[in-house]
This record gives sequence, C-alpha cells and structure tokens, in this order.
Amino acid sequence: MRTRPLKVALLGCGVVGSEVARIMTTHADDLAARIGAPVELAGVAVRRPSKAREGIDPALVTTDATALVKRGDLDVVVEVIGGIEPARTLITTAFEHGASVVSANKALLAQDGAALHAAAEQNGRDLYYEAAVAGAIPLIRPLRESLAGDKVNRVLGIVNGTTNFILDKMDSTGAGYQEALDEATALGYAEADPTADVEGFDAAAKAAILAGIAFHTRVRLDDVYREGMTEVTAADFASAKEMGCTIKLLAICERAADGASVTARVHPAMIPLSHPLASVRGAYNAVFVESEAAGQLMFYGPGAGGAPTASAVLGDLVAVCRNRLSGATGPGESAYAALRVSPMGDVVTRYHISLDVADKPGVLAQVATVFAEHGVSIDTVRQQGKDGEASLVVVTHRASDAALNGTVEALRKLDTVRGVASIMRVEGE
Ligand code: HSE
Repeated sequence: MRTRPLKVALLGCGVVGSEVARIMTTHADDLAARIGAPVELAGVAVRRPSKAREGIDPALVTTDATALVKRGDLDVVVEVIGGIEPARTLITTAFEHGASVVSANKALLAQDGAALHAAAEQNGRDLYYEAAVAGAIPLIRPLRESLAGDKVNRVLGIVNGTTNFILDKMDSTGAGYQEALDEATALGYAEADPTADVEGFDAAAKAAILAGIAFHTRVRLDDVYREGMTEVTAADFASAKEMGCTIKLLAICERAADGASVTARVHPAMIPLSHPLASVRGAYNAVFVESEAAGQLMFYGPGAGGAPTASAVLGDLVAVCRNRLSGATGPGESAYAALRVSPMGDVVTRYHISLDVADKPGVLAQVATVFAEHGVSIDTVRQQGKDGEASLVVVTHRASDAALNGTVEALRKLDTVRGVASIMRVEGE
C-alpha cells in the first residue's frame, strides 16, 4: 500500500458532511485497504466556524472555501453544500487546480451537468455524484456502468421521501394534504419551507439527471415537466382505491415508442397496488428501471438523511481515489445519442378524470362526444348521482397529454359540466 495519503477537502459540514467526516475517520483503515492508500481530511470549509464539530480537528476548519480548493495539493474535493453558487465556481476551481470532485448537488447537476462534466474532462479529472439522486440508493453507477451495455427504455421512480411520506400518510389514514404535511413537519421529514419537495422541484432535478444518464442525452431541469402534489385530495385517494390503485409522486423518464425522442416529467399519478412502487412506504425512495435486455430492475432504500447520503458519497470517494492511484478516470458525460427531448404534450398515458356534472338525459352522451372529438378513447365510466347533480369518473385508454388537455378544455365549456374536480394520470400498467 502507498503510504503517502490522498488528500480530501470537504465543502460543507452539515447533516451529510459531518457524516462523511465521521465515516472517513472511523473507517480510515478499511478505506485505506480498499483504496490502496490512506485518505486524509485536508480541510473543511464551513460557513460558521465557531460551531462545535465532533471528531474534526478545528485546525482543518476554514471559512475560505475558495482558498481551500485552490491549494493545488488536493486529490478530491467533496461538495456537500448544495445550491448553484458558490458550489459551481468552487467545483470548477477544484478541477482547474487538479482535484477530482464528488458532489451531492442535484440542483447544480440538473442545471449545469454538461459544463461541469466538460470542466472535469478538460482537466483530466473525475466528477462523481451518486448521492445527488435518491440518497444511499446505488442508481447513478448502475445506470452509468452496470447498464452501459443495455438499452434503458424507462425509469419510473419515487425519488422524494418527504412527498412519499405525506402521500403514504394520506393513503393509510384518509388524512387530507395539510394534515399529512403537518405531521411530516412535526416528525422532521418536511422542512419548514417544503416547497422544493411538495412542488416537485427536488424530484424534477433528479429526473433530469436520471434521464440524461439513462438515455445518453442531455436533459436539463428546464426540460422536465413538473407538477407538485399539493392538490391531491382525500377524494383522489378514495377514487384510486376504487380502481385498485394508490397515488405516488413519480419521476418518469421515457423513451418514445419510435426511439427518436425522450420525455422526463414529475407529477402525482395513480399506480396499481400490484406495482412494486405502490408498496414503497413512508419516506423511502425506489426507482424502477426497464431495459431491453435486463428487463425490470428495482432499486430501493433510504433517499435522504446524513448517514445514508454519506454512504453514497463515500462510495464515490473510494472510486475516485482508486482512479487517482491508477491514473485513470471513470466514465464522463455520455450524451452521444442526443435524442430530442419532447414536450409534455407528446407524452402518452392513461387518465382518470373526475367531473361534476348535471344529472339529466344526454349529459353522458355529450361528455363522451367531447372525448371522441379529441381522439381520446374511454375505458371506463362511473357515475354517482345525487340531488340532480352527479359525479362522473372517466378513465381513458392511452392518449397524448395534448389530446387530453384539449378534451378537458372543451369539457369545461359545456354548461352541463359544473367543474373538473381532478385529473390524474394512471401509470405503471
Ligand atoms: N428532500 C429530499 C427528500 C431529500 O425528501 O427526499 C433530498 O433530496
């Protein structure tokens, strides 16, 4: 074994960073044996230097992250501060000064992944980011390496634990959205400002990263269609149950049937209880991958939290350190396929539409005509009347999102349609 240690700098020492430092210290001998050289924590950049950090030599702590990444003797920079800036500049500077980078920064990778990969390549260094998607769950490496010889057609995932906790609570207790969110906040699953989670921004960043790797195509955050889950109601869950389904916030990345384009989207959807993703409970994450040769694969585990996310960071750290010793670099960006990323209107799926209508002769025929005029084929219709009004639930066969939107727009114009209570896509069949 080489005795000269590999030098690692840590940018950020919060929930994840402190666990990375702890594992680096407590597992130092194992890590050295697996890498073939000891690993030394050479510096830790933080915002608040006065905060006590157990197990970290105060002499290593600095508030000057820029000076740290410019030292020139670093082998690896681990970035766990999140956000776009200063993370982007620090990572680029780290490459320019000879370090490889391990990052957990989904927002930055979803927005600027291509530029960061280019910077890594120009400097002959590695960029690894297993922790950016679904915490501890190995996903990036299986997609980048294990499935590199296969053709991935679909990635369907629950990639946000907070929203899965809330939806699971609504499903199992009949609670409304706000009540379930309040419980998630009280238990520490939801942040004080839950917007990034409940509006689907966090999941959309992860979908962009997964789609890019799965389809060897650049997919940016802006390419991902996004709908949050704040409008999901207890009534939606009741309807889902009647169909033998539950509701999940899904990230869905798909290759179109003709193979020439892909789509990426995040929205709440009904999935059959028989689908493996339906049984993903609480704050767990799971990603279902469908590929040509391997068939169906499911990756499951904790998608957040200090130690689970640190596990993914450490796995990358070992891989990057091994590369440093051998003088190799791992896989860089693979975007050669350059497939077209289609808009949401091109997505083809099934829909569950709940309408409040007048209960009188001809209404059903009128509604059915609107569906027919837009080329949307109805699979089932369920009607429940009460006091001259009725609730009409229509489940369609597969149709494009554009056709469905046209249908709904026309339905809203009918005098007999009092309102469109909910529209939900049905996936996983
Ligand atoms: N806030 C995310 C979640 C974890 O609830 O899953 C970090 O991406």
